[in-house]
Amino acid sequence: MTDMPARTLVGPADSLPEGQQTAVDVAGVSVLVVHHDGQFYALRNNCTHKDFPLLGGDVSMGRVTCEKHGAKFELATGKARTLPAVKPVKLYRTQVEEGQLYVSEL
Ligand code: FES
Repeated sequence: MTDMPARTLVGPADSLPEGQQTAVDVAGVSVLVVHHDGQFYALRNNCTHKDFPLLGGDVSMGRVTCEKHGAKFELATGKARTLPAVKPVKLYRTQVEEGQLYVSEL
């Protein structure tokens, strides 16, 4: 038997409409969940520059902006696309099952 990765129920998928974001706890880690361009994305809710929470940051062009110093991270990969951040943010998996949105470790 393999260990199942920790999985957290966000709630009904339609409770997070396009353009909205929230944060949930996955195995003790705060994870940002974003609905952008018809997709759900999940990333660790900490900027890799100075650990500032990403929740509430502007989302556009598939990227979330850290409000502290303006680093941008790609939602699909977690890669840092704008300085001052250089390290990627940890990516999580999103799944919709029977209308419920879940986030789990990859
Ligand atoms: S803490 Fe995010 S850019 Fe500095």
